[in-house]
Amino acid sequence: MFEHNIDTIIHLAAESHVDHSFGNPYQFTLTNALGTQVILEAAKKFKVTRLLHMSTDEVYGEVSSTEKDLLESSILMPTNPYAASKASGDLLVSAYVKSFNLPAVTIRCNNVYGPHQFPEKIIPKFICLLNRGEKCFLHGDGTNTRRYLYAADAVSAIDTVLHKGEVGHIYNAGSNDELSNLDILKFILKVFGVDSTDDKVLGKYTEFTEDRPFNDSRYAIDSEKLQKLGWTYKTSFEDGLKVTTSWYSKYGEIWWGDVTNILKAFPDTLKTDLDKFMNRQ
Ligand SMILES: NC(=O)c1ccc[n+]([C@@H]2O[C@H](COP(=O)([O-])OP(=O)(O)OC[C@H]3O[C@@H](n4cnc5c(N)ncnc54)[C@H](O)[C@@H]3O)[C@@H](O)[C@H]2O)c1
Repeated sequence: MFEHNIDTIIHLAAESHVDHSFGNPYQFTLTNALGTQVILEAAKKFKVTRLLHMSTDEVYGEVSSTEKDLLESSILMPTNPYAASKASGDLLVSAYVKSFNLPAVTIRCNNVYGPHQFPEKIIPKFICLLNRGEKCFLHGDGTNTRRYLYAADAVSAIDTVLHKGEVGHIYNAGSNDELSNLDILKFILKVFGVDSTDDKVLGKYTEFTEDRPFNDSRYAIDSEKLQKLGWTYKTSFEDGLKVTTSWYSKYGEIWWGDVTNILKAFPDTLKTDLDKFMNRQ
């Protein structure tokens, strides 16, 4: 007999930051592909009644502005090691559903943001930098876009798929709030009461850096299948950003302190990258 009577697994664990995947791709494959298989084997062993696998819109690859939003049946065309490792996890989940009748469901979310997010991600990173009076660095020309879902809406999407999703099915979960990295900076500055429509003012807070080796211009997913299960996102980007900015303005520095402690347990490559960022070396 097992010590715990586990009936449900919500599998969110991952190496999640795309930037790091270019320098440390094996770690991403190890965690996101093999790690997912370890979870699947555990789910099989424990005979769980449901496993939810969390995936990403990045598995579909770049979607040009003239293309329609992608459905769950679209071809997977990942373009970076993170996205490829997540797509590998998705394929393993599908295979375990067929081979072993594993009662698994998959959700593919667009970018998520909100309080408590690890401050390597763009929104908390920018807020913390601005709170420190520092510039925000933008990859390339800052025009690449992503869609953003507030954490509470991502959670309700997970809850919906977990309870109402059909075994073996995949559900996209996204918003229509599509913003470039530059737009995000402008939005945050607006919340800080800075007039970011003035280029000179904007320049004071902006530093353009070398782009990623490859950077998809945009992603776009269609969430109608999930909406048919009753899910809809409720938080506008403006509202979600206000809450997030206020949270990081209050707790950001404490959070950084905690992150420094957490970092002690992380691989050296990641530590160096974040140390560099935190100390602006
Ligand atoms: N953040 C986003 O915008 C976003 C968008 C779509 C999908 N996702 C997916 O959602 C999930 C959660 O993302 P997040 O942004 O919260 O990431 P995160 O990096 O903040 O959290 C991932 C967690 O996984 C844990 N983890 C990593 N390797 C592990 C291992 N080998 N064993 C056990 N735990 C391990 C980490 O400690 C961390 O707590 C991931 O699967 C990610 O791919 C995230």
